[in-house]
Amino acid sequence: MSNNIESHLVEDRVFKPSKEFSKQARISSMAEYRRIWKESVANPGKFWAGEASELAWQTKWKKPLEWKAPDAKWFVGGKLNVSESCLDRHATGARRNKAAIIFEGEPGDKRVLTYAQLHREVCKFANVLTAQGVKSKDRVIIYMPMIPEAAIAMLACARLGAVHSVIFGGFSAESILDRLDDCGAKHVITADGGWRRGKVVPLKDNVDQALKKNKTVESVIVYKRTGQKVAMKKGRDHWWHELEEGVSGKHKAKAFDSEHPLFILYTSGSTGKPKGILHTSGGYLTGAYTTCKYVFDMRDDDVYWCTADVGWITGHTYIVYGPLAMGVTQVMYEGAPNFPDFGRFWQMVEEYGVSIFYTAPTAIRAFIKAGDQFPEKYDLSSLRLLGSVGEPINPEAWMWYHNKIGGGRCPIVDTWWQTETGAIMITPLPGATPLKPGTATLPFFGVDAAILDETGRECKANEGGRLVIRQPWPSMTRTIYRDKARFKKTYWSDYDGMYTAGDGARRDKQGNFWIVGRLDDVLNVSGHRLGTAEVESALVGHKAVAEAAVVGRPDDLKGQAVVAFVTLKGGIEGSPELLGELRNHVGTVIGAIAKPDDIHFAPALPKTRSGKIMRRLLKELVGTGNVTGNTTTLEDFGVLANLKKSIGRKK
Ligand code: PRX
Repeated sequence: MSNNIESHLVEDRVFKPSKEFSKQARISSMAEYRRIWKESVANPGKFWAGEASELAWQTKWKKPLEWKAPDAKWFVGGKLNVSESCLDRHATGARRNKAAIIFEGEPGDKRVLTYAQLHREVCKFANVLTAQGVKSKDRVIIYMPMIPEAAIAMLACARLGAVHSVIFGGFSAESILDRLDDCGAKHVITADGGWRRGKVVPLKDNVDQALKKNKTVESVIVYKRTGQKVAMKKGRDHWWHELEEGVSGKHKAKAFDSEHPLFILYTSGSTGKPKGILHTSGGYLTGAYTTCKYVFDMRDDDVYWCTADVGWITGHTYIVYGPLAMGVTQVMYEGAPNFPDFGRFWQMVEEYGVSIFYTAPTAIRAFIKAGDQFPEKYDLSSLRLLGSVGEPINPEAWMWYHNKIGGGRCPIVDTWWQTETGAIMITPLPGATPLKPGTATLPFFGVDAAILDETGRECKANEGGRLVIRQPWPSMTRTIYRDKARFKKTYWSDYDGMYTAGDGARRDKQGNFWIVGRLDDVLNVSGHRLGTAEVESALVGHKAVAEAAVVGRPDDLKGQAVVAFVTLKGGIEGSPELLGELRNHVGTVIGAIAKPDDIHFAPALPKTRSGKIMRRLLKELVGTGNVTGNTTTLEDFGVLANLKKSIGRKK
């Protein structure tokens, strides 16, 4: 398997949507796509207002857009309650008894929630939160397993105008603490634990540890999922089921301003501190809904399954808000794809008749490695559309997904977007776009994407440059929570009035976008963003470490692996024990996904004369075993020679 961009450059296989697929699709030809796209970028306010009007508003907006870069206001003067579009309108209408969530826990427990039941659960929990003192704009941390209650908690917050911030269950106590402190949350919603590969993830214990050092949190609500004993602090901690006793399942949704904050989601940037990406209500929901409608072409009889975790943006937009706003039936799964074996997903596709399946290239590569015998055991004929997200999909993985999972008949939508963009931005439309393995193809409606060089000139075909978005779109992040200056600097300072994504890309002659990867010090490990600075600061926090530099190395399964170079404090010797200790230390400080794959002890790190670590050289060294790039600013050449020895490859 090669996960290498070179293979992109020679890719010339083209897969056109079948006539049958196109015939029933909302957008069925390239001519139609081009026409709507042109109109939508010529007048984004008009296009998005048309889509937004399909959602439930209590007060219609006066103006679709007010824009003064980088500040966007969408659907100005409009008022809505996001949860009404996702629940009330289905629960009180024709979809009342339609399955909203078909849940399967890792141990095999099953549960179906209809739209009416989900609505009732959200209303009940909104009443619980109100009784706990949760108010509009309060920040609420949600640290849950992948169970329906995670979605219920998010929607209940939305119903009250409270701002949820979901933390992925794989993050550590210290990561929880950082986020709690950054957003000043008063409330935490968690569970005793969740199931992952047959083991319990101790969610409540992690929250307890984080709270030892936190001063803002007043209440913790704990859902009983795994049943192991957990400590409950009197006055602060409450069982979800106890709080719900006798509580009404009715709740009237109050309307909030279209620009009312909906959630904060933390993501890695190029400094050590994660960024609290803030999304607001009307615009975000419009982006989520519209992309579900056109990109997944969701229908009332579809069974949709997105395998992401609600702890990431994909789970927010394509498990909770988008699919529910569409009123689709979806599958939700708690655990690991390989539990009890690599057939789990395919067994579930067969059992529930999944028709739309959305996953990440890293999962696909793991399936390829596990072998074809797993998908071959199951009937996957219910599938009609496949999706990919999180990182560039290498053409080999694309072909396997297409043939082995999609039976050669399902279009694959390779969707490029980010936590910051809120919704899919570059993507094929499945009934129209000719697909080439490895490219996310063309911009979605209303998205004016381009590739620019450093001077701001638009790159020619096949010339690499920086990916930018030249016009506002409704689901764009409005700010980094409590850090407007960082927001401006990170996304809006490269070119006047344009959003810089931080990705390198090129367009081919047909205009398809090929995303190469991050241009900043952010790694993409198994489709998850990880700042090298975060891992470095975790390592330097260990008592034995003097200095650390972290870079990515191409990896067949994870996309990128984490490689750390570490210098130790005087008198301390590197040893296999210390190596293990450092890996675990990073796991404790950030979470298991950040554990370095390789740690090299080094007597010194390559630096410029002004003392900056030259990560570029380290990256080249771990990628190719050699350094050919410019080394003229290197202070001490001996350092590089030593490192080459320490990684076991010589020139
Ligand atoms: O580098 C791009 C990559 O993932 C980054 C965004 O990460 P995150 O905010 O965690 O969101 C992931 C899920 C939307 C992007 O800057 N990326 C995401 N999707 C693709 C991709 N790279 C190439 N192709 C994609 N389809």
